[in-house]
Amino acid sequence: MILEVRHLSTHYLVRHNPLARFGHRDHLIRAVDDVSFAVTAGEVFGIIGESGSGKTTLARTMLRLCDSTAGDVLHRGRSVFAMDSAELKRYRRSVQPVFQDADSTLDPRQHVGAILEEPLLIHGIGDAATRRQHIRAMLEQVNLSPSFMQRHPSELSGGQRQRVALARSLLLNPEMLIADEPTSGLDPLVTTQVLALMLRLKQDHGLTLILISHDLETVAYASDRIAVMYRGRIVELSGGEDFAQRASHPYTRFLLGVERRVPEIPVLEGVHEHIHGAEDGCAYANSCPHHLHVCHSISPELRETSQGHLIACHAIAPE
Ligand SMILES: Nc1ncnc2c1ncn2[C@@H]1O[C@H](COP(=O)(O)OP(=O)(O)OP(=O)(O)O)[C@@H](O)[C@H]1O
Ligand code: SF4
Ligand SMILES: [Mg+2]
Repeated sequence: MILEVRHLSTHYLVRHNPLARFGHRDHLIRAVDDVSFAVTAGEVFGIIGESGSGKTTLARTMLRLCDSTAGDVLHRGRSVFAMDSAELKRYRRSVQPVFQDADSTLDPRQHVGAILEEPLLIHGIGDAATRRQHIRAMLEQVNLSPSFMQRHPSELSGGQRQRVALARSLLLNPEMLIADEPTSGLDPLVTTQVLALMLRLKQDHGLTLILISHDLETVAYASDRIAVMYRGRIVELSGGEDFAQRASHPYTRFLLGVERRVPEIPVLEGVHEHIHGAEDGCAYANSCPHHLHVCHSISPELRETSQGHLIACHAIAPE
């Protein structure tokens, strides 16, 4: 097991704005709420969920880029929150992020050669000549010629920028990538090319991959297992291959287009303290066509209903 997430929560308390007409109470955003899963070596673990479901917050908390409220993240059995700065540096070297929108993560003032040299310099790897050689080899692996070293990010297409971001993440020879929306903003053809490249690099480098996207097709294309997030929680987790056939949670079935969703009655900010994630009950209860009485008061646990298939829903009994 490379990475294990145990009952992880990241909540934000948003203080009221005294000048606002509405929103006169503090509210708690349960961006990540009691999330547990484990990623094994060599797998592609997909995370899907609509905008605001907590995917980026989960990725950032796993990388210890933000604090958790509760729970733990274990890297090879060691809590990332207990790591000292030297351990954290090693952790961040072996578990690399690939963030959404390479535009904003690549320094526009630097040329690609300097952008790619930076992580090697930070970790004190090689002399100038070996670093250059390493960068040329990595550019080739992401199907870019060495001439790209002299170009600036603004001179690249979206797909080329994402390839440079991938090359940068791989330069330190990580064992795992956490890719948050790596293809967002790319057209469908380039999306397929970048995903295929990621899978090839995963194979060549023996990588483990967490692939995060709001796009079900992207996640389904590449993942061995898929976790579906809704308002900070995992509501369903199952194998990628037969994901569509096995999907049972009402929200997953809505994402797949096989079930409707009841339009939620909008609440005025400030009327309710908890606008994001339910304190009690299922967070999907107000949109769920199958909701039961219990759904509004007791939060359903994520439990195994059949081999390798976990669902959080009161209406679904184990097989
Ligand atoms: N620093 C923060 N302070 C307060 N609220 C935050 C903060 N970061 C995220 N949130 C809130 O947490 C929730 C989850 O946000 P997050 O960015 O993790 O969602 P996401 O699934 O990545 O969405 P997207 O698909 O749009 O990228 C949202 O309601 C967001 O507004
Ligand atoms: S727990 Fe209840 S409200 Fe939530 S998805 Fe299941 S049936 Fe619907
Ligand atoms: Mg996000």
